[in-house]
Amino acid sequence: MGMVYLNGEFMPLEQARVPVMDRAFLFGDAVYEVLPVFAGKIFAVDEHLVRLERSLAEVRMANPLSRDDWKMVFARLVREAGGGHLSVYLQVSRGVAPTRDHPFPNEAVPTVFVMANPVKTTLMGIDDLKPINAVLCEDTRWHRCDIKSTALLANVLLKQQAADANAYEAILVRDGHAIEGAASNLFVVLDGVMRTAPNSPLILGGITRNVLLKLAAEAGIACREEAVTTFELARASEIWMTSSTREIMPVTQLDGKAVGDGRIGPVCRQLADVYLAQKHAFMAGQQV
Ligand code: PDD
Repeated sequence: MGMVYLNGEFMPLEQARVPVMDRAFLFGDAVYEVLPVFAGKIFAVDEHLVRLERSLAEVRMANPLSRDDWKMVFARLVREAGGGHLSVYLQVSRGVAPTRDHPFPNEAVPTVFVMANPVKTTLMGIDDLKPINAVLCEDTRWHRCDIKSTALLANVLLKQQAADANAYEAILVRDGHAIEGAASNLFVVLDGVMRTAPNSPLILGGITRNVLLKLAAEAGIACREEAVTTFELARASEIWMTSSTREIMPVTQLDGKAVGDGRIGPVCRQLADVYLAQKHAFMAGQQV
């Protein structure tokens, strides 16, 4: 069983215990991050720590660790897990309170938990791109999806709705616009232009999304940060979704219908190619 970090100590997972009065357990009063580890190295670690700082500030919690301390915890867990391709999960809850009251407790000490787990798949070459099916679902989440909160019940229900329809991901629709996935960001190619929803309180500002936007600009791929309507989505030539752990997921079927010609599209392949080049450079120790 793997080693985890809990409140300043490293211990085997089965020994890690959190009191039931923890606000994460009672209220989902916590924020989290998921960081990808490629060949034993954490990709975009500063970007993830910046987003963590932002989530913490938005829910009015102090950052319990300095950036260097976070990195030291990650490094030890990655080492203990044997390196390779992993994901590091961290969460910071508002801590344990004496009674169950909604407002912040006076003197709670944040609960800090970190673990590293092997990932099922990682993109190493273009042939590793695997098509997925997606379904459209009404976005039932709250209006602060930019905060990476562990209060994920809506996301859980939406992902299960997708699973019940034999799909991997749910594409979420709010006010007639397809904005992101239940656990990923959304990219669409429409009339030759790559589109993704702009950052706003209604989506999570994905780190992978940012990486791809930068790579697309460098590769000269036409791109607009503007959400597509469901009507536009229905005539998209390509769709893919992104996240730190699943990287790039081409959607070749939406609600049981083929997207474009039903195969992974050329823009997705071009972007995956430049993404892979950057990833291999990163794994080889070059600054990216
Ligand atoms: N989810 N949008 C939502 C709602 C997400 O939950 C995620 C990631 C993303 C993609 O963000 P990033 O590229 O920074 O991973 C977008 C993580 C992986 C999770 O909850 O496990």
